[in-house]
Amino acid sequence: MSRVTLNLDNKALKVNKLTKKYFHKSQNKKIFALDEVTFSIEKGSMIALLGPNGAGKSTLINILAGITNKSSGKAFINGFDLDKAVNEAKLSIGVVPQELVMDPYFTPRETLNFQSGYYGVKKKNYITEKLLEKLSLKDKADSYVRYLSGGMKRRLMIAKAMVHSPPILILDEPTAGVDVNLRQTLWDSIKELNSKGTTILLTTHYLEEAENLCKDVVMIDKGKIVIQGEIKKLLKNIDLKSVNIYTENKIKKLPNELSNFGFSLKNDGCFLINYRPSKTSMENILNLILKNNIIIKDIVTTEPSLEDLFNHLVQ
Ligand SMILES: Nc1ncnc2c1ncn2[C@@H]1O[C@H](COP(=O)(O)OP(=O)(O)O)[C@@H](O)[C@H]1O
Ligand SMILES: [Mg+2]
Repeated sequence: MSRVTLNLDNKALKVNKLTKKYFHKSQNKKIFALDEVTFSIEKGSMIALLGPNGAGKSTLINILAGITNKSSGKAFINGFDLDKAVNEAKLSIGVVPQELVMDPYFTPRETLNFQSGYYGVKKKNYITEKLLEKLSLKDKADSYVRYLSGGMKRRLMIAKAMVHSPPILILDEPTAGVDVNLRQTLWDSIKELNSKGTTILLTTHYLEEAENLCKDVVMIDKGKIVIQGEIKKLLKNIDLKSVNIYTENKIKKLPNELSNFGFSLKNDGCFLINYRPSKTSMENILNLILKNNIIIKDIVTTEPSLEDLFNHLVQ
């Protein structure tokens, strides 16, 4: 049994008012890379950390990984207090960085064995073979890493982060610069790990990816959380709808009244409006269209995507 006190509330990760200040010499001012960020992740879940460039995603991950020191606030990893049980906390997570870092003259099998040793795993407890299997690397287990495809290298990075069987896996932009087919295989690997019980936190700027993979999301911007929760619920409650109006008559230019109202022409048979249901009713919209002698063929209302939500919140 560990001698450290555990925070037993079944959270895989918990951060409380986590803050990181940097001094930017060039601007002679302090910036908050993280500003009192508070959230928690249930064990076994898969959550996306979203945010534009410079939002603070990597800072957050680096603090959890023990690479960067926080300025203030608390972080618990698998119940271990990062201030009091840093080793236990570190052993509870595997971090897959965005950049591919590996020795091209090692084979995947050697890479994993070496990494296991680095983590202090006893030889008899190495799970190299299991990881090679799990991440579909068996075929190339003894080829030099430099001969692996991009997708295989990525999967090897994931395997490398898991040699100490961490219950939590953090992936920083796992599919950045990865082509569409590979992306799908990677998604499958990540999903598979999650279905077997690994808690997953991933950062991505592909909002579609977050929507496809994760149930929950935390969005940050300029070091602050802008929204968090279950993606489906957030999208349901967002005050934004998009309506495509298909017309019988060809429209070359929208009447001013319509463009001033916020309509935009998609092509000569269709125009579009994004509106806030709390401020504008469908009746208003339809009346305005009819008043301008437009004959409606069809109306298609689309629910907002995570991307709409993001653009709506982060300007
Ligand atoms: N080592 C550092 N020194 C000074 N400022 C930094 C350092 N690392 C990150 N920052 C600043 O912190 C903010 C958040 O950066 P980062 O966490 O890398 O964002 P993201 O990963 O979301 O793109 C940015 O304004 C960045 O310039
Ligand atoms: Mg980053």
